[in-house]
Amino acid sequence: MENSGLCRAHTNIALIKYWGKRDENLFLPMNSSLSLTLDAFYTDTKVTLEPTAEADTFYLNGVLQGEKETQKIANFIDLFRHEANNNSRVKVESYNHVPTAAGLASSASAFAALSGACRDAFNLELSTEVLSTFARRGSGSATRSLYGGFVEWNKGIDHDSLSSHAIPIDAADWDVAMLVIAVNTGEKKLSSRVGMKQTVETSAFYPAWVESAEKDLIAIKDAIQAQDFIRVGEITEANGMKMHGTMLGAIPPISYWEPESVKAFQKIQEIRAQGIPCYVTMDAGPNVKVLCQGSNIEKIKKILLKDFKPDQLITSGVGSGIQSLKLSD
Ligand code: PMV
Repeated sequence: MENSGLCRAHTNIALIKYWGKRDENLFLPMNSSLSLTLDAFYTDTKVTLEPTAEADTFYLNGVLQGEKETQKIANFIDLFRHEANNNSRVKVESYNHVPTAAGLASSASAFAALSGACRDAFNLELSTEVLSTFARRGSGSATRSLYGGFVEWNKGIDHDSLSSHAIPIDAADWDVAMLVIAVNTGEKKLSSRVGMKQTVETSAFYPAWVESAEKDLIAIKDAIQAQDFIRVGEITEANGMKMHGTMLGAIPPISYWEPESVKAFQKIQEIRAQGIPCYVTMDAGPNVKVLCQGSNIEKIKKILLKDFKPDQLITSGVGSGIQSLKLSD
């Protein structure tokens, strides 16, 4: 009998960033982080057990992937084989619904969806919280894509893998949205994995970053509870810039910024000065994400259209947590 699982997971953007591991093998972070799940970007992944096959196969957007990509996910699927005590090889079919123009990394939604599909295919009884500890081993940010709305990734304790998991904070069913200003959609110059390690090992600012991220997390959770959008935005923008600050302190320095990123940041500051609350955050790439209120998104877009092309501006509302889909879907 064929055993399959099909899951959908949305991507997320961190408002309090994760940047640096305390355990490279287990993907345990130095600090806790917090994100917003987005509905516009998601991955659907189907996993089918193939007990007679000799190797895993991996199709991404219908294209059979090469050895390197397949090996990466095969190592990840080993975690589920081990948990289920079932050594079956699998076929993975994954579709990324991330507009190619958005330039957003899809690893968060990809590893979250793959985790859910493996859980279902291997018939594992795993809570969402425990599943998030599996997703974490594929990509740290995937930990948070198991839940919708505002999600915390609690850093956990010491080298205890199960203690480092996602926690749903708030459904974000109030006026919150995100606008992506796509600056460059090419492959990033330096992977987050390498960038983090270099920062942890060499940046003089790193200890201060970790300390202030922990404080920002407490402050943003209070602001979320109070539904204080301006406070959430201010903390988000400051936290993201501090992460880029600690990267600049690395040796050699790391910068993901491009001239258009700076331009976008300045435009958002100008729009804010006109009385429209909107705040910038950036990840390990030059694209700019703007936290804003859905009720203001069209106004902001209109102003940005003077400086950016329509296909550079992509909007998203709040996304939901992981879903198992019917296999006929
Ligand atoms: O887990 P990764 O390798 O996708 O790293 C995520 C790093 C940032 O996007 C910069 C921050 C974050 O918390 O998502």
